[in-house]
Amino acid sequence: MAEQSDEAEIQKQTTLELWLILHHKVYDLTKFLEEHPGGEEVLREQAGGDATENFEDVGHSTDAREMSKTYIIGELHPHHCFLCLSSWWTNWVIPAISAVAVALMYRLYMEQD
Ligand code: HEM
Repeated sequence: MAEQSDEAEIQKQTTLELWLILHHKVYDLTKFLEEHPGGEEVLREQAGGDATENFEDVGHSTDAREMSKTYIIGELHPHHCFLCLSSWWTNWVIPAISAVAVALMYRLYMEQD
């Protein structure tokens, strides 16, 4: 019997806690669930995952964005941040490869003369 109540307790805790990700930041919305004007359900559906797209799709107001800052509890490790990685890739690696390619082509062109 004791085991059962332990499990129930864990389940209760799990349904009470709600963390999600918005723009690479971690939010604890546990205390905000009941206050959310968009309802509890939409937040629960996003629990534990990256809700950025849905958050942006709704077109939250500036007030909502300001309010959201109160619930930030952390930031995603950069290694887990695919978009950050891909912008690093497009900002540095691709231009660097292009520059080398242009330099090589220029040398080849000059050698032909
Ligand atoms: C920190 C996180 C969030 C905060 C502080 C927040 C806050 C708010 C606020 C203040 C509103 C009222 C309208 C406005 O001012 O824009 C709202 C509406 C709404 N929110 Fe959120 N929200 C959050 C996250 C989310 C997420 C992750 C979803 C996921 C789908 C969501 C879905 C909605 C929906 C569907 C509405 C109703 C829009 C409508 O009735 O027109 N929200 N939210």
